[in-house]
Amino acid sequence: MRLLVLLPLFSLFSLVTFVAGLGTSCSAPVTKGTAAASAPFWMEQIQHRGSAPFSSNPGGYQVFRNVKDFGAKGDGVTDDTAAINAAISSGNRCGNGCGQSTVTPAVVYFPQGTYLVSSPVVSYYYTQLIGDAKHMPTLLASSNFQGIAIIDADPGWYVNQNNFYHAIRNFVLDTTRMPTAATGTGIHWQVSQATSLTNIVFHMPTTPGNAHQGIWMENGSGGYMGDLVFNGGNFGMWVGNQQFTVRNITINNANTGMSVYMNWNWGWTFQGVTINNCQVGFDFHNGGTTQDQQGTGGEAIIDAVVTNTPIFVRNTSPSNGALHGALVLNNIKLNNVPTAVGVTGGAVLLAGGTTTINSWAQGNVYTGTNPTGRFIQSSIPNINKASSLLDSSGRIFGKTHPQYQDYTPDQFISVKSAGARGDGQTDDTAAIQAVLNQWSGCKIIFFDAGVYVVTNTITIPAGTQIVGEAWATILGTGNQFFDYNNPRPVIKAGTAGSTGVLEITDMIFSTRGPAAGAIVVEWNVHDPAGQQGAAGTWDTHIILGGKAGTNLQAGQCPTSGAGGNNCFAAFMALHLTPQSSAYLEGLWVWTADHDLDSGPQIDIYTGRGIMSESQGPVWMIGTASEHNIIYQYYLVNAANHYMGLIQTETPYFQPNPVPPAPFIPNSAYKDPALGPGAAWALTVSNSQNILVFGAGLYSFFQNYAQDCLNTFNCQQQNVDIDASSSIAIYLLSTVASQYMLSVNGQGVVPNSANRNGFAQTLSAWTRA
Ligand SMILES: *[C@@H]1O[C@H](CO)[C@@H](O)[C@H](O)[C@H]1NC(C)=O
Ligand SMILES: *[C@@H]1O[C@H](CO)[C@@H](O)[C@H](O)[C@H]1NC(C)=O
Repeated sequence: MRLLVLLPLFSLFSLVTFVAGLGTSCSAPVTKGTAAASAPFWMEQIQHRGSAPFSSNPGGYQVFRNVKDFGAKGDGVTDDTAAINAAISSGNRCGNGCGQSTVTPAVVYFPQGTYLVSSPVVSYYYTQLIGDAKHMPTLLASSNFQGIAIIDADPGWYVNQNNFYHAIRNFVLDTTRMPTAATGTGIHWQVSQATSLTNIVFHMPTTPGNAHQGIWMENGSGGYMGDLVFNGGNFGMWVGNQQFTVRNITINNANTGMSVYMNWNWGWTFQGVTINNCQVGFDFHNGGTTQDQQGTGGEAIIDAVVTNTPIFVRNTSPSNGALHGALVLNNIKLNNVPTAVGVTGGAVLLAGGTTTINSWAQGNVYTGTNPTGRFIQSSIPNINKASSLLDSSGRIFGKTHPQYQDYTPDQFISVKSAGARGDGQTDDTAAIQAVLNQWSGCKIIFFDAGVYVVTNTITIPAGTQIVGEAWATILGTGNQFFDYNNPRPVIKAGTAGSTGVLEITDMIFSTRGPAAGAIVVEWNVHDPAGQQGAAGTWDTHIILGGKAGTNLQAGQCPTSGAGGNNCFAAFMALHLTPQSSAYLEGLWVWTADHDLDSGPQIDIYTGRGIMSESQGPVWMIGTASEHNIIYQYYLVNAANHYMGLIQTETPYFQPNPVPPAPFIPNSAYKDPALGPGAAWALTVSNSQNILVFGAGLYSFFQNYAQDCLNTFNCQQQNVDIDASSSIAIYLLSTVASQYMLSVNGQGVVPNSANRNGFAQTLSAWTRA
């Protein structure tokens, strides 16, 4: 009986599939690349159709620049500095005096070769510097190199906390020709969100006493970096920045100094660290407890292997009793490391040897609803990690940003070649959906740089791999996305119950306002059995307002709130639905607090940030969610999540209006009850096996005023955990929330006991 009923439906379905697939030349799934080993990276040869529709010269502006087209030789002899910098700067881009801008994106590509440089390569705002991923190019500092670093992401031109949109990948940076006494530096990385360093090798001298360093960073508000190898030098990394997530770094033979010197921070997470033959693994510059004594607020380090290094972690001051820096260690294997944790001058807090540190913490720890913490420098109970989150060696799983380096250009399909315009005006809904219907799983879908307007849901089937050029942007707009009582996805990634590969890299998903009913990305797909991390996004962001093309800029949405209903940007930024899994690395959900093209602060309304109902595995590695009305992160009926580091900010205008205004609660999306007058940074309901390993949750304003920073109470509560969730939070750093953590809506941990420089920090909160 049943079959009889189903048959006609099935036929109808086949017909639809057939029509949608008409003209397909997709014969085989794209499961592997077919490029010859000697062939250049596909990016070099693919036809470049990228455009910048909101630049001053949309017809002529060149997004993709091959440095050799600008005269660079890459022969290791010619000084290529001027040619490379011309490739970056040409086209009236955002350099000195500009500050910030979203209208002139660029990919600056380096073919195989050795590029001799004598002064910094300056990475402009909104720039990706990408080397041949198959044959990594070398940037070689000349013996007479002058300047701060081989690559400089900020010569003082940008505001350090607002230096967004930089990516550097696939390079060897070599300072070995520079004098050993010079401060030869690979990268000066003073950057903020939507930035990444990926797949970079730093070559520095191993001469005793040399002063070289791989990365130098004095401040900013990052960010993600990973797959980095540092050889030699005095410091692998000399870094200070509010927060960062670092995954998969190896530091070899920094034999005169430190692998990581941390000058200051509010909290950093390191995941997957290999240290060989250094003097000190992590040198931890402790500050004081007051706002003007900011040192290293905290470090959380998970999955490290340290070999032949006298000291793994060294505090510059003892941290006795008063809180001077939080430290959390998990799964640290030491091979011939006499001191695991020590203090400058020789005191040993934790002896090393050849051993494994399971879980250890320095700082204040809290349990349950007990408002009183304890300062410890000792082992802590085993940190619980869901097995689905671990790789075969028991570490938190990680997956490198896919670059498809073995693929040929004809294994990609350009959406522009298939009829999408990306001009910021044309409705590209049908063209994009047709490309996906025809080519998903058969070719990698290449979004040439541009701004693609869509007026209805785009469904991305499981099996799709999408690569954006220079953060190609999809903007959802129109009456499908108006109604906050009837929200609809702009991007629907997979459908309920679908499994498969779904990889998205270097894209931005956004809206053109008003769009109170937009769920910007609804994520439904789940990894196939045995393929961890098959479904995920890398260097892909959800940016709402503050950007050309969004109609949510200073002109429309001033801080007076006069923009009213025209300033709704979205109902929700990202929804991980119950049957999904997700690997999210380098994801910034940003409802704009200011206009990147003209500067002023703005009032933009996004109801909700990231909601997860996923049963996991979910990895959130270097994610952030800022300025959304009801919550930044919300886990409800979720399970098996690793979240490290997560970063949030509350809307600057709150409590004007008092949330959930200007939205109304929506029970279909299980909206949580709010604390008084402000959004949740993180709220967790009925969720199991959740591990937060590093969180920087900030509240800087009250109705645009900052007096509350001095009184540490810009909001009253910001993290809420219900009674039925199993979750542990390590390295929680907050700014100006009176209670750092609440249970069942009641404030538990007061910030007053945890002041640690500018932020307030605790090392662990566990249920019991
Ligand atoms: C950032 O670092 C620069 C250079 O060290 C310094 O001049 C500036 O004051 C710092 N800014 C902040 C906000 O810390
Ligand atoms: C770690 O980085 C190295 C160097 O880039 C790379 O070869 C390796 O595959 C990466 N491992 C993981 C788990 O990402």
